[in-house]
Amino acid sequence: MITLLAVDELEEGRSKGLEHNNRHLFAVKKDDQIFLYWNRCPHLGTPLEWEEDRFLDPDGALIQCSTHGALFRIEDGHCLAGPCQGKSLQPVPFSIENGLIMVEDKYLQPVTLS
Ligand code: FES
Repeated sequence: MITLLAVDELEEGRSKGLEHNNRHLFAVKKDDQIFLYWNRCPHLGTPLEWEEDRFLDPDGALIQCSTHGALFRIEDGHCLAGPCQGKSLQPVPFSIENGLIMVEDKYLQPVTLS
């Protein structure tokens, strides 16, 4: 298992970009729950954030893509509006152990181009 982040490092209502083996993902904490997604917009595959660790809209209510403004539900990554409406962000399976967000190694293997 790979430790990505301590739950306490993420403030309520905030998001954080994460990277391991050049795999990019991000976490959001909402209502004391953690959500983890690959940092890849289903529209064009671009990273989502506006600037470092900023993945949410101004109200902090939805995830927003910085490229064309698509809006995603935090709870399940479903796109509610924008060019990829109806598609979803891809969640990353994780567990929380001793206050740490852990992901199985198999999900964070380096990408090989062979
Ligand atoms: S790349 Fe995200 S909305 Fe177009």
